[in-house]
Amino acid sequence: MDHFEYRNGVLHGEDVDLGQVAEAYGTPCYVYSRATLTRHFRAYTEALGGHPHLICYAIKANSNLAVLDLLARLGAGFDIVSVGELERVLAAGGDPARVVFSGVAKQENEMARALEVGIKCFNVESRAELDRLNAVARGLGRVAPVSLRVNPDVDAGTHPYISTGLKDNKFGIPVDEAFEVYQHAACLEHVQVAGLDCHIGSQLTEVAPFLDALDRLLTLLERLREVGIEVDHLDLGGGLGVPYQGENPPQPFDYASALLERLSRWPGSERLTLLFEPGRSIAANAGVMLTRVEFLKPGETRNFAIVDAAMNDLIRPSLYQAWQAILPVDTRQARDTRTYDVVGPVCETGDFLGKDRQLAIAPGDLLAVRSAGAYGFVMASNYNSRPRPPEVMVDGEQMHLVRRRERLEELWAGEATLPAEGGDAS
Ligand code: LLP
Repeated sequence: MDHFEYRNGVLHGEDVDLGQVAEAYGTPCYVYSRATLTRHFRAYTEALGGHPHLICYAIKANSNLAVLDLLARLGAGFDIVSVGELERVLAAGGDPARVVFSGVAKQENEMARALEVGIKCFNVESRAELDRLNAVARGLGRVAPVSLRVNPDVDAGTHPYISTGLKDNKFGIPVDEAFEVYQHAACLEHVQVAGLDCHIGSQLTEVAPFLDALDRLLTLLERLREVGIEVDHLDLGGGLGVPYQGENPPQPFDYASALLERLSRWPGSERLTLLFEPGRSIAANAGVMLTRVEFLKPGETRNFAIVDAAMNDLIRPSLYQAWQAILPVDTRQARDTRTYDVVGPVCETGDFLGKDRQLAIAPGDLLAVRSAGAYGFVMASNYNSRPRPPEVMVDGEQMHLVRRRERLEELWAGEATLPAEGGDAS
């Protein structure tokens, strides 16, 4: 459930008329709901009840400082994949001791910074990375807490670009090799085995693949235990899906209950802290992107609604053929309904926000693209030299600008023209 709903025919975010947000900050514009983010985060903590756990929000989904600040205040940990994300956590006042570091290509400087601030765990994705981490930690006189990210080879049944737990994917250590890599880790002086980790993909709409992955992880833990290697935590990654178009993914409660039930058969599981790395299920439906209709362009085969937002602002429809609901913000005026492709100003045929949408709209109308709180602004670019849109957080009756619109001169800040010619152009 989220806090975007129609009141007297006008779409609101909490108690704020979204038309007022557009008036104040222009379009395109991202709008997030504090109450929705809070609700989605708490759904996880409440689902896990008394079992030791840490919810490490996957920052990549939405890394705005206000979002991180809010989640940190709620007690969240964070899943990062770069030193940039680490610095964001610190800037937002998050606790580094609650940070896990994922990603297949951690640089030495990134490892060093994470060691210096004392993160909770490195989710190591290869033997080579383990050796690099050991060397960096040795150089700093530290011991790095590690968890190996295993690739359990389960089919998450999701879009191929966001499936990560199959043999064919670049992620993690094959589950059959992980045993030996753990033994290697146990011999290294500057790493300390702390956990076991997997992440099998994103936008999963069934519990079964998560349970299959858990079974494979438990089998591995069994073998490790036999050789005296114990872990303190099990990190099951993120991946729980959200309803974009009528999907009915499990709620965090159903998901956690199924996992806890499976885990309870395992001796000693009550001492095993469970970590999760949810991104989308916390942020996606806590955000919308507002855009205004510039022109309606009727055609022989298709009608186009040309809006002021484009693929550079929200790339999911173009990149994954993702479907996100597009709704008029103000439905109080009578308009003819037609079928439109909703397209942006960027010079590419692939620049669309939605296709074949039944909409009753006129030029100048405001539209809201729903489910835009995750993998929205963070994937925005400056393609076509378009400044990135502002981000606003609504909170009850209030709205807070949490990132202003990028300015034109920021587009080329950091660039340079060539030095003047040397006068020898004879
Ligand atoms: N942990 C790791 C190691 C991940 O790679 C990811 C997402 C997550 C956690 C969070 O997964 P979530 O709970 O959000 O499903 N840009 C794509 C999604 C890419 C997901 C990449 N990894 C999209 O817009 O659909």
